[in-house]
Amino acid sequence: MTRRGLLAGGLAGGVAGALAACSPEPRPAAAPTGPNAGLNAGPNARPNAGPGAAAGVGRSVVTFHGEHQAGIATPPQAFAAFLGLDLRRDVGREAIVRLLRLLTDDARRLTAGRGALADVEPELAASPARLTVTFGFGPGLFAAAGVEEMRPEQVAPLPAYEIDRLEERWSGGDLLVQVCADDGVTLAHALRMIVKDARSFAEVRWTQRGFRHAPGVLAAGATQRNLMGQLDGTVNPEPGTADFDRAVWIRGEPAWLRGGTTLVLRRIRMELDTWDAADRTAREFSVGRRLADGAPLTGRSERDQPDFDRLNGAGLPVIAEYAHIRRAHVPDPGLRMFRRVYNYDEGTGGKSDSGLIFASYQADIPRQYLPVQRRLAEGDLLNEWTTPIGSAVFAIPPGCAEGGWIGETLLGG
Ligand code: HEM
Repeated sequence: MTRRGLLAGGLAGGVAGALAACSPEPRPAAAPTGPNAGLNAGPNARPNAGPGAAAGVGRSVVTFHGEHQAGIATPPQAFAAFLGLDLRRDVGREAIVRLLRLLTDDARRLTAGRGALADVEPELAASPARLTVTFGFGPGLFAAAGVEEMRPEQVAPLPAYEIDRLEERWSGGDLLVQVCADDGVTLAHALRMIVKDARSFAEVRWTQRGFRHAPGVLAAGATQRNLMGQLDGTVNPEPGTADFDRAVWIRGEPAWLRGGTTLVLRRIRMELDTWDAADRTAREFSVGRRLADGAPLTGRSERDQPDFDRLNGAGLPVIAEYAHIRRAHVPDPGLRMFRRVYNYDEGTGGKSDSGLIFASYQADIPRQYLPVQRRLAEGDLLNEWTTPIGSAVFAIPPGCAEGGWIGETLLGG
């Protein structure tokens, strides 16, 4: 019986495993055939997206190279994993450069639907499904690389807020890798390749997995819902506009970060069990928008401008003084943070463990993020049901050209 025959015969995994372990080289997959052959496959991979696959989801590629890193202005994919790595003690500048070159190469290949270097399962990379891999540098990376003077002051832990209940296991980190894709299998494989290649340089400090609606579930351009049931993302800079560019991309100093941005990553638990117990009026009052359609309490549809001055019959503001949208509102669209949030849901044993992986990108944290965060910490009706349990800040370097690597503007000289 041939090896293939044995495996097809459904023998126990132990035997299959033993056989695989005996095989010195991974067997190249059969040559791609069929209508989709070769569309996005690496040299050894068979495209996963067959003729019946949902229109193009698996085959969609987001370009890796460019002025900015992908994964920020990219319309949010269905799945995300945020990986926080800590550099090992003996890792200095030279090793960090090697690590960044290696991970850039992985990202470049995987996002194009090709296996990583020495990938034993390139088939798992064959459906890129809009995979993006985005890198960020935490404060510790600058120190380890001996370039502390290049660290922008804003790339530092946020001030402590009274509402915070931060846990070490969700906070900090020297290097961030944000992996997003419209397919969970693609994402898991990419993440594994990156962790594997980073292993001798760094330890995983935390992994945060998040999700949004699956591809095709919402109409194009529709706002997603978070796990509190709210439309989340209505007032947000719109990629492709001048306001977005002004709000997100760094244009001035430091020069090495031009075309990059910063990320504030907060893990915010939602107390869904008590949220469910509040009545609908209270839930809508806390945000200042209706749950059904996301319209402000003073308007008819989602995109209506909230009227913060409108009073009700009792002479009180219709949108409460401490409603989330009033406290978070920033009038200048070019000074807003860009929120690209993911839901998480790890609940077991009947108790909810859900919330937001709140990812906010902005050119200037002290100017755009901190004033809003301070106002929310001082008074926001939503705080009754939300608790920040993790916090990390990263510089997101600019993108790179083909043949370049992420971080070369900082460490390439
Ligand atoms: C679990 C925590 C949170 C939940 C459930 C939540 C939910 C919401 C919802 C439903 C809206 C209204 C729709 C929209 O415009 O997107 C909103 C708006 C907003 N939120 Fe949050 N949010 C949370 C945390 C935060 C945090 C930590 C910040 C910033 C520090 C923030 C900043 C904003 C901003 C800037 C807006 C737009 C306000 C405006 O109308 O101008 N949110 N949020």
